[in-house]
Amino acid sequence: MGQGEIYRHMSSGKPDGPKRRRTTKKMHGESTPRMMTRKVRTARGRKISSKQWIERQINDPYVEQARIRGYRSRSAFKLIEIDEKFNLIKTGDTVVDLGCAPGGWVQAALKNGARRVVGIDKRPVDPVPGSDIVKFDFMLDEAPDRLIHMLGGDAPDVVLSDLAADTTGHRKTDHLKTVALVEAAAGFAMKALKPGGHFATKVFQGGAGKKLLDGLRARFEIVRHFKPRSSRSESPEIYLVAKGFKPPRE
Ligand SMILES: C[S@@+](CC[C@H](N)C(=O)[O-])C[C@H]1O[C@@H](n2cnc3c(N)ncnc32)[C@H](O)[C@@H]1O
Repeated sequence: MGQGEIYRHMSSGKPDGPKRRRTTKKMHGESTPRMMTRKVRTARGRKISSKQWIERQINDPYVEQARIRGYRSRSAFKLIEIDEKFNLIKTGDTVVDLGCAPGGWVQAALKNGARRVVGIDKRPVDPVPGSDIVKFDFMLDEAPDRLIHMLGGDAPDVVLSDLAADTTGHRKTDHLKTVALVEAAAGFAMKALKPGGHFATKVFQGGAGKKLLDGLRARFEIVRHFKPRSSRSESPEIYLVAKGFKPPRE
């Protein structure tokens, strides 16, 4: 599918086919598998870093739960936790999901009651029932209007952003790219949201900058940082949640 094509799929939005597995612990009100520490032998030719990645994946209960419940990403649990804590999504809501591939947040938003999710990612996303997803670069000037057009006059109740820039390894460049994504997401939220709507975004390195925080505090009733348990402790990501949008007076 080419840049800008819309994936439209509008039946019920349940996670992809859950699979059965023996469970022992509770996570988010549902049972989760027993935590195990399985080791992977370093096969000839396999790098230590890829061995560590595989070990982390097979010992991570969120990866296992995502597989069992049919979520396309372990990230789905981050949105589930954010929503559990801040009650962002109400039944019947319209939600915009920025940086939505492979679709875990889209699935979680629909499961949590959203009537419709409009998503954007520069990577292709397999259709998720109940969503309209466009493959497009959100940093292009025409992206906000593209999303607003997809919404068809239906201002979103919630704007979510899990946008994460591809890292170059050059710290300053990566930081600037990340800041630009967060600022663009916040700008879109403040342009598109319904009065009283909510915004949640991934931010990095200790949280949002002062200028952005001040801007959000002026336009939202509540602004908070939050690190979900499902966000790996070694990851610098945290989330910023802004509730109760107050549009500027005309
Ligand atoms: C952490 S992933 C999102 C995971 C998603 N929340 C889920 O649960 O499946 C971050 C996404 O941001 C997307 N992204 C980064 N920069 C982007 C841009 N400029 N435009 C559109 N998508 C972008 C990446 O392609 C990637 O799929």
